[in-house]
Amino acid sequence: MPNQLRSQVILSIETNAGGVAKSTTAYNLAYELGVRGYSVALLDIDPNESLTLFCGLRESSHPGTMADVYDPSFAGNYPLMTAWASKIDKIQVCKGGKELHETIRLVSKDLRGPYVLADRLSDYPLPHNFVIIDCPATLEPLPLTALAACTHVLIPIQPEYKASQSAAAMIEWYYHNCKQLRLKPAPKIMGIVPTRWKSNWGAHQSIVEELPIVCQQLGIRFFNPIRESADILNASGRGLPLGIFRPGREARADFQPIVDALIQELAEMGDR
Ligand SMILES: Nc1ncnc2c1ncn2[C@@H]1O[C@H](COP(=O)(O)OP(=O)(O)O)[C@@H](O)[C@H]1O
Ligand SMILES: [Mg+2]
Repeated sequence: MPNQLRSQVILSIETNAGGVAKSTTAYNLAYELGVRGYSVALLDIDPNESLTLFCGLRESSHPGTMADVYDPSFAGNYPLMTAWASKIDKIQVCKGGKELHETIRLVSKDLRGPYVLADRLSDYPLPHNFVIIDCPATLEPLPLTALAACTHVLIPIQPEYKASQSAAAMIEWYYHNCKQLRLKPAPKIMGIVPTRWKSNWGAHQSIVEELPIVCQQLGIRFFNPIRESADILNASGRGLPLGIFRPGREARADFQPIVDALIQELAEMGDR
């Protein structure tokens, strides 16, 4: 757990599947928190660069990536870039990218492997109110470093017939690794959120009726689904959050319960 000079929520978005809207959720949450006046650092630890693309930074010539942060020579100079700088000054991104393949090898050999990111964030704390870590689809080893570094975990789940099993498997992964890594305190599971939800699909409806029951049994918060929306898809392709691309669209409301919950967690940390 990083030394926290002030309260800071470090949110890791973790699932064991690709295309579940982890990155989409990460950057739209970052923007919505920014709009509410909070500063956010988005850390992309995925070798595929979708977050960089979604944040409109693909053309950026800035050379640094999260691979530099994991590197043993890192001395606190986070290669952060401001996203959507002409609109907002609250959100900074540290890119992912293919350099992270080498990081995976380094982390596997490092004596403190799973704790490397926690060590960095503790030795060189970021000043932001929120740090959001966008994980790759496989669960190890980089998502393990995110688990060890974070204060909170959000689990997006795609509605499909094995959604309940996927959710249960993720929770099992979480408990197993919190125990193995002796995370004290263990990060808190913010909740499970179904993504890419098609409300007019019978199958999606029945899945989304079933999931809250599973969550209740597990004692985990269930967030209302984030709907499948052409606006969300087109926004990501343009390198913009929905809140800039189509600010008035209803789908934007789907992110708000998670934003509210994150702000509440930050406030509660400050009270402690
Ligand atoms: N709610 C949504 N509606 C429509 N398209 C979405 C939605 N969420 C994500 N997408 C699209 O699905 C694809 C995968 O999403 P992404 O966030 O990259 O998933 P992950 O990070 O889990 O691999 C992207 O092209 C993204 O734009
Ligand atoms: Mg992604």
